[in-house]
Amino acid sequence: MAEADLIDTGISTLFLHLNNNLLTYRRVFVIFLLSEARSNRAISDRGVMTGISVDIRGFTKEYGNMTVVDGVSLNVAAGSFVTLLGPSGSGKSTLLMGVAGFTRPTRGNIFFGDRDVTVLPPRQRNIGMVFQNYALFPHMTVAQNIAFPLIQRGVSKAEIAPEVSKMMRLVGLRGMDDRPVTKLSGGQQQRVALARALVFRPPILLMDEPLGALDKKMREHLQSEIKEIQQVTGTTALFVTHDQDEAMSMSDRIVVLNHGRIEQQGTSAEIYDTPASAFVADFVGEANMLQGSIAESSPQGCLVEIGHNLLVCGKSVPGAVLEKGDTVDLIVRPNRISLGPEREPVPGFIPGEMLSSAYLGESILIRVRLPNDKIITAKLKPEAGQPDTQRVSVTWDYNSSTVFPRRNGASSRGE
Ligand SMILES: Nc1ncnc2c1ncn2[C@@H]1O[C@H](COP(=O)(O)OP(=O)(O)OP(=O)(O)O)[C@@H](O)[C@H]1O
Ligand SMILES: [Mg+2]
Repeated sequence: MAEADLIDTGISTLFLHLNNNLLTYRRVFVIFLLSEARSNRAISDRGVMTGISVDIRGFTKEYGNMTVVDGVSLNVAAGSFVTLLGPSGSGKSTLLMGVAGFTRPTRGNIFFGDRDVTVLPPRQRNIGMVFQNYALFPHMTVAQNIAFPLIQRGVSKAEIAPEVSKMMRLVGLRGMDDRPVTKLSGGQQQRVALARALVFRPPILLMDEPLGALDKKMREHLQSEIKEIQQVTGTTALFVTHDQDEAMSMSDRIVVLNHGRIEQQGTSAEIYDTPASAFVADFVGEANMLQGSIAESSPQGCLVEIGHNLLVCGKSVPGAVLEKGDTVDLIVRPNRISLGPEREPVPGFIPGEMLSSAYLGESILIRVRLPNDKIITAKLKPEAGQPDTQRVSVTWDYNSSTVFPRRNGASSRGE
């Protein structure tokens, strides 16, 4: 990677961090000092921060005979917040690095607005980036870190100070100008990284698991802050996570990736309520999955045999034509399950044995073993109470479970 790319994208320390390459570090610092002394270009020359669209067309990345991103086409509307969500190895970072310009696609194109940037080096793409491991300059203060991209761009010292303090206010770091970044908490360091990525008003902000190293409380806090800052600044955000709660709480749209392909894209509600595949249903949100075969199918719904002559019901995923004998996955969310006193099994009601019950404040989580040894989880409202016997009957409304045709016997998590 060219040094100019490292410098101009302002993420050099990431690579320094990864490579621990002292020589590169020294070169970067010398160039930083030189650029600090130079040019007085006005900050207004950099233009205002207005998000532009990112259009990914047929992006494919192959390493040897391995296709890690497979023909992904995706439009990220200007000013929107879009999240790439998927399990480890699904190609999220590869795709993001393609947008940044650090990975060149084997096939396909990337447009920023109507400009084809596919072969443009990273330094000419003018994007902000935030990574999981902060990638800050350890020898600099908070203010110096945030000022860095402006110095690189030759902005005058007089204009840098107000820009930096504006950004520090925005990310909640007011008064910390002179603190060494090494003396900050993880959450504070990530705020510095965010401020540094946004201070030069990039039209596009790319974030790769930026909250992955933080504890749950700090993550949740920063999730809403990042979203608010993105809305205030108007930048277009492309965010990577494998945490579905994070994706759902932050995104205008979610793109679910699996094995380098898009499984589904849509709003959080669309992805959660109408998953397009068993993989999405299982990966996004809590889900119980039962495997079986179609016993009866009609336009209204179907009965699925799950072994031991037990029949459960669900509606087939839109677009699927299911016939008697087809092998299927039936997905039902824990909060859709009802438990009642034990009764004779009839279609739609199956017997079970309560294994455990945990009171979680807003819900009671109950694990139930079915006669086929499958364990399912029910999430009941505390006010609804719970059965007082260990033997129970399990049921759900057919409308609240979805039946998917089985894909070549593959498990839903794509393993
Ligand atoms: N330079 C490379 N050479 C060969 N294979 C690579 C290279 N970079 C990534 N891969 C492979 O591409 C696949 C996708 O990797 P990628 O880093 O994009 O996944 P990811 O979705 O970001 O995963 P994670 O959640 O673990 O970060 C993986 O199987 C990975 O091993
Ligand atoms: Mg990754």
